[in-house]
Parts: sequence; C-alpha cells; structure tokens
Amino acid sequence: MSIERVLVAGAGAMGSQIAMVCAFAGYHVTLHDLDPTALDAATAALRERTSSMVAKGRRTAEEVDAAHARLHTASTLPDDADLVIEAIVERLDVKRAFFADLDTRLPAETILASNSSSLVPSSMASAIRRPDRFVNLHFFNPALVMPCVEVVRGPETGDATAAAATAFVESLGKVPVVLAREIPGFVANRLLNAVRDEAIALYEGGYADVDAIDTAARTALGYPMGPFELMDLTGVDIGYLTKKARFDETGDPADAPSATVSRLVADGHLGRKTGRGFYLYDSTGARVGKGI
Ligand SMILES: NC(=O)c1ccc[n+]([C@@H]2O[C@H](COP(=O)([O-])OP(=O)(O)OC[C@H]3O[C@@H](n4cnc5c(N)ncnc54)[C@H](O)[C@@H]3O)[C@@H](O)[C@H]2O)c1
Repeated sequence: MSIERVLVAGAGAMGSQIAMVCAFAGYHVTLHDLDPTALDAATAALRERTSSMVAKGRRTAEEVDAAHARLHTASTLPDDADLVIEAIVERLDVKRAFFADLDTRLPAETILASNSSSLVPSSMASAIRRPDRFVNLHFFNPALVMPCVEVVRGPETGDATAAAATAFVESLGKVPVVLAREIPGFVANRLLNAVRDEAIALYEGGYADVDAIDTAARTALGYPMGPFELMDLTGVDIGYLTKKARFDETGDPADAPSATVSRLVADGHLGRKTGRGFYLYDSTGARVGKGI
C-alpha cells in the first residue's frame, strides 16, 4: 500500500495541524471542511504557527514554503486519496454518515482512518464496505508538537492496513503506539483518567489536599503538572462531560463523574478559563490560592 495523497477532513484544532504534519513529511494533502470559514481560519493559523517555527529556528523558510505548497484546502470532497484522516465533529452519527459517503466515492484500496478520541473503530467501520481498511489514528493536541499517535485496530482491521498505518505514522516522524484490540479511551487517556480518578479519590477521602497531590505527581513521578493543575488547564467541564458520556453508556457507577467535579461544574468553576477551578487564578492567569 503506497500512500502519497492524504485527505484530512475537518479543519478544526486537530485536522488543521494533522494536515500540516503530513505536508511537512512530504505528502500531498487536501484539507477539507464543510465550512469555508474554518478553512480560512485554519490556513491563517497554520501560516502564523509555521512562521513562528521559522523565527525560532525549528524549520527553515524553504521547508515551510514547500510544505504549504503541498497543502490545499477544499470545501467539497475530492474523489481520490490514498489515506483519509477524519477529524470532524465527535458525533458517531455524523462520522458514520461521512465514512459511508466516502466509501462510495474513493477507490476500494483507500485506507480510512478516524482521529476520534473516544469512538472505537468498529463503531464506524460497520458503516462501510471495507472494514478491513479502517483504523483509528489518534493524534494528540497539539498535533504539530505531540509525538504519540495511537494506531487502534478494530476486530476487522486488516494486517496490511495496520502495517501501512503504522509505517505512515513513522514517516511523519511520530511515535506509533499500536493497540492490538480496541477499547474506549485507548491507552494514553485511560492512563491519564486512572491517575485523575485516584487523585480525586485521595482528595475526597481526606488523605491529602489538592496541592499536595499535585506536588507528589510533579516531584516524585516527574509529571510536568499535577492532575488537578491539568484539569484546570484543559477545563473541568471537559473531564466531566467525558465521564458523563461514559457513565450514560455503561451505567457503571465507577464511570460517573466524581462529586467534587460535579459540584465545580454546577458552580461554573471550570478551571483557568473561568478564573477558578481546583485553584483560584487572578486576571493575569497567575495562581493565587485554593479553588475548593
Ligand atoms: N481537541 C482535542 O484535544 C482532540 C484530541 C484528539 C482527538 N480529537 C478528535 O478530533 C476530532 C476533531 O476534534 P477538534 O477538536 O479538531 O474539533 P473542532 O470542533 O475544532 O473541528 C471540527 C471541524 O470539523 C468540521 N466538520 C464537522 N462536520 C463535518 C463534516 N461532516 N464534514 C466535514 N467537516 C466537518 C467543522 O466545521 C469543524 O471545523 C474529534 O473526533 C475529536 O474527538 C480531539
């Protein structure tokens, strides 16, 4: 399976940067979005981001110009690509309809991949006639920076597809983490969630306060930031919604959002973006005290 032309669908936070990563690696890339303003915004953001790479000496101006020359945008779907990386809205019905449509447009050998952060490959591959050519390629945010890409095999993903997807990730200069079987959340986010759940259990059990737990994560485990600091940074509501969606699906009390996180969300204390979460922040974003 030779990959030369990549179609990246969805020009939001993830798709725009995934497209740029592919263009830097020498692929001919079409970045597609239904919304032309999203394409304009992605182009402007990528121009700014790549100019700053040149200013910092991370890329040469020639490398950046060559990559932009390989990257095109389109508000209609092209009818040819060797690999599709889908990064559209995180809704199963929308993704299934998108892949079913692509399935009829693109050659039978084209590999279809989803960047979904929660949906397992089988939930999307059952909408198409080539489930053996379907795989998840899960990039991390920001995709231009983060090395890891999870390659998630569904029960019907073919060996050739998994091998081609893994080789593709390596060709991007990224580090593939291959899952032999699908599981919701994949590997990295499951590890993160396990640490987060334990941190909350320790706090709610009255064993240590938020600052002590974060300090242990940084100074004993070498984490760049503690679990509570990270929740404040990414948004307390994001973690809440992820857990709530899982709980709605499984009904398992262990999957339900914790009392502490539920209370913060109900009170509108969503972390740095609202000035208060597990910690309190001033108008410059500096941490000034406890939030709970
Ligand atoms: N944001 C993250 O941190 C992150 C990390 C890893 C994976 N993901 C996954 O990546 C995907 C995209 O997330 P995002 O944060 O970039 O979203 P986003 O909201 O920033 O962008 C989504 C884009 O998809 C477009 N879109 C929606 N439906 C479409 C369709 N049918 N056809 C074409 N374009 C369509 C929208 O116009 C929008 O520009 C999701 O599946 C998400 O789970 C997100």
